[in-house]
Amino acid sequence: MRAYYFDNLPGDQRLPHDSGNSVSDETLKSIGVLHWHIPIDEEGLYERKVDEVAQERNYKNRDVIAISKESLGDQLEVKLKTFYHEHMHEDEEIRYIMKGSGFFDVREHDTESWIRCHMGAGDLMVLPAGIYHRFTLDENNAVRTMRLFKDEPKWIAYNRGPETDANQYRVDYVNSLQTVAVN
Ligand code: LAC
Ligand code: NI
Repeated sequence: MRAYYFDNLPGDQRLPHDSGNSVSDETLKSIGVLHWHIPIDEEGLYERKVDEVAQERNYKNRDVIAISKESLGDQLEVKLKTFYHEHMHEDEEIRYIMKGSGFFDVREHDTESWIRCHMGAGDLMVLPAGIYHRFTLDENNAVRTMRLFKDEPKWIAYNRGPETDANQYRVDYVNSLQTVAVN
């Protein structure tokens, strides 16, 4: 996975929009974003490693979804529009890319900059509850992703706005960042 600041220039969301400024793992960690790389191997060893992370972090359930023209047809563009609308969830968003690639953009708290994370096969990412983010396919236009979750999936996306800013999970997230900064 490579992370960098989004260039904010006009153009298709599937283009890289690479400002050339890389973002370190430390910076990602400081906003609560974690990632691992577990290569997809033919023997299926990756499954055991994903299980380990899942067990450690208490992710009990999972499913696999395909986002592509093939699997969604005309609904693809509709879905992509929703995914690319800035939002947050009341639970962690955990994604393991099994095939293809895509961009997860996460908001850096203090600066309001978008950090673009280019995820490919074998990349596993955890977005904390309350972080504003969005997703798009890249120019390859297809991804197969494992979604992990703790109990009941809370897939509801709360679009950014004054009401969501006041959501308890959002408030807790922002407070958790301040606690880290003070220490
Ligand atoms: C999700 C991604 C699109 O909420 O952020 O599934
Ligand atoms: Ni999301």
